[in-house]
Amino acid sequence: MNLLPLIEAKREGRVLAAQQLQQFIIELPALPDYQVAALLMAVYFRGLNADETAALTLAMRDSGDVLNFPEDPRPLVDKHSTGGVGDKVSLPLAPLLASLGFRVPMISGRGLGITGGTLDKLESIPGFKVALSAERIRAIVQEVGCVICGQTDRMVPADKRLYALRDVTGTVPSIPLITASILSKKLAESLKALVLDVKFGSAAFMQSEAEARNLAESMVSLGTRCGMNVRAVLTDMNVPLGRTAGNWLEVKEAVECLEGRGPDDLRELVVCFAAHLLLQTGQANDFTMACKQAQTCLASGEPRRKWNQMLAAQGADLKAFESQLLKEQAAPVVAAIRSDTAGFVQSCDARAVGELVRDLGGGRLTKESKVDPSVGVDQLAKVGEAVRPGTTLGRVHAGTPAEGEAGATRLRAAFQIGSAAPAQRVLIQEVLR
Ligand code: URA
Repeated sequence: MNLLPLIEAKREGRVLAAQQLQQFIIELPALPDYQVAALLMAVYFRGLNADETAALTLAMRDSGDVLNFPEDPRPLVDKHSTGGVGDKVSLPLAPLLASLGFRVPMISGRGLGITGGTLDKLESIPGFKVALSAERIRAIVQEVGCVICGQTDRMVPADKRLYALRDVTGTVPSIPLITASILSKKLAESLKALVLDVKFGSAAFMQSEAEARNLAESMVSLGTRCGMNVRAVLTDMNVPLGRTAGNWLEVKEAVECLEGRGPDDLRELVVCFAAHLLLQTGQANDFTMACKQAQTCLASGEPRRKWNQMLAAQGADLKAFESQLLKEQAAPVVAAIRSDTAGFVQSCDARAVGELVRDLGGGRLTKESKVDPSVGVDQLAKVGEAVRPGTTLGRVHAGTPAEGEAGATRLRAAFQIGSAAPAQRVLIQEVLR
């Protein structure tokens, strides 16, 4: 295929035909990086209309295997987040959804930069395997109801190639390319319904609410057009979610949520996404009732049992996991930071916390970096909480005393304390359907 006419057409702002985009994806493995990169840059500046985005998305979905599941009354559903600091929602949500009678083939990713990755969190559990074959994914979904794993090599290979090139050519932040990348992978899961957590704020991919809304609108309309029931929830990512950030510390907090404990903001999002999926699949017709249904299920203990079933199916050593949960710390050093004044927590900068966790070794600077599951922060004070001199604002879990000390200074700087109680934060800003 000669890609030059497509590059020139898009450079001039012309519309590409569906057939041209399909051919581009079919021939992608043989096309040179420099031409593919040039086309991506043309798309970055000129955009794609809804027809072009749909054609690209479906061609990307069909570049590899699509997961097939047997006929079953349990609807296939999933949640996708654009990523944030302390975002461990997927961990309690998958077993909650399975307990509510859904099947959840949750294909997740790794963290890069300041946002954590669900797979990195799960790999802090002894023995847990995230690399599964399509057959094993299907078997666990049918048997347990939920699986959280990585993409197989044969799923959406076109996205792997395009994303790697976008990453090094400054073409990641393009709404049609993000839409095609995310939805091609979700369409390959054969879902009936998908709920998207589109985050905005200092630690989000989309910094402003307006940008997040544009991305959400693009994904909702394209997903709907491709036969999936898609909703998007715009959520605030200016402060970390929950009281922990860091792989193992987040798993511990997710288990607390499954045991009816843990932070309110985490539970609020978990219940909200489950309720939307109940509505989207016709299992409920009123949001308040759907939330009650999800809360009752969460409180029943069944999702906590389901979580252990999922872990066992994915190779985890449950005995080692449960005893690791009882340990106060996994990292060699824990350094607490305390307030030196009285007042109220005004803010805790999620970006600063994400950068700190990454630099402690909990995140990646490059795709090749190895993550340390034990490091991170916990016991984070929440916005609006009253503090006195000596009140703990948070703790740093680090590999060495020097890293703990430097981390504590940085964590303290992420907090702002003021004398007046701040206005209450609204976590869930808007729902698009
Ligand atoms: N996540 C994805 O999977 N793809 C993108 O393009 C951006 C975020």
